[in-house]
Amino acid sequence: MNDLQPIVDGAREAFSKARTPADLENAKARFTGRSGRITELMKGLASLSVEERKTLGAAINQAKQAIEAALNERRQQLADEELQAQLKAEALDVSLPGRRREPGGLHPVSRTMERIEQIFASMGFDVADGPEVESDWHSFTSLNNPPNHPARSMQDTFYVDIQGDDGIWYNLRPHTSPMQIRYAQAQVKRWAREGTPEAKREIRVIAPGRTYRVDSDATHSPMFHQCEGLWLGENVSFKDLKVVFTDFCRTFFESDDLALRFRPSFFPFTEPSAEIDIQFQHGPLAGRWLEVAGSGQVHPQVVRNMGLDPERFIGFAFGMGPDRLTMLRYGVNDLRLFFENDIRFLRQFQ
Ligand code: PHE
Repeated sequence: MNDLQPIVDGAREAFSKARTPADLENAKARFTGRSGRITELMKGLASLSVEERKTLGAAINQAKQAIEAALNERRQQLADEELQAQLKAEALDVSLPGRRREPGGLHPVSRTMERIEQIFASMGFDVADGPEVESDWHSFTSLNNPPNHPARSMQDTFYVDIQGDDGIWYNLRPHTSPMQIRYAQAQVKRWAREGTPEAKREIRVIAPGRTYRVDSDATHSPMFHQCEGLWLGENVSFKDLKVVFTDFCRTFFESDDLALRFRPSFFPFTEPSAEIDIQFQHGPLAGRWLEVAGSGQVHPQVVRNMGLDPERFIGFAFGMGPDRLTMLRYGVNDLRLFFENDIRFLRQFQ
């Protein structure tokens, strides 16, 4: 019995030195494992007399129980330590104030977009959506604006590291006008598929979305919004452009005496062309004019590029700036405020 005490003490010491559960299990193996000291002693019993076997056997069993008790105690200790460490690592400071979710609201430009869509939908216009990364053909050439044409500088844009089949880089669309081509081509296919009767073939659409140009000042931002409008039919004239656009603006601004100005201008894809200005009605800029759209009668070559006969399909297009309409509506004098996302500014529109 006394010979066994050092073994028990040795086990206790080894267990207390174990720092992790794995260490502990290794230490245990040295005593009660298959070739541990206690197990070896048990095996030795076989060669002893019955008397000796009885006394020594009882002593060994006692030692084994003492070792197992020490083992269990240490296991429990290590588990507690681990739990404490974990709790400490994951501690939460419950005295910190929570993050409240404040009620959100629509951005003023989104409000304008929704209004534009509603008003044009009420005039029978479809609403279409298209890609912001465009081929050179869609952004320029199909719109009668071939490579190296000086009019391209009006819409200097950003280029993307993707080369088109024509070898020209893709661009971030500088206007929504590519949607004129995309939408018309899709309609031509749809008419063929559905066998739409000749008399019902008409295109009347707006295409709102994001556009990009190398431009930045109080009335220009490198990313801005546009809304394209296109109406092509058998008998749609420049006069209809004036009526539709004026009607739209008076509804949008809820003002029957809103002043609009159509100024002669040039775009490769319209002939004749006009720029449309609106007067600020309130705010620090009251009385000043702001250009809000380019417009004109769609050029026959553009109609041809849509896959349509320019003898049959005539009409107008416009591209307006919803950011600027928003400036006019609320009397804001710097376009950049819309994109800085200062909550103090945006909150005023809720
Ligand atoms: N795309 C032109 C621009 O962004 C505007 C425009 C659209 C002009 C349609 C005429 C017809 O400057």
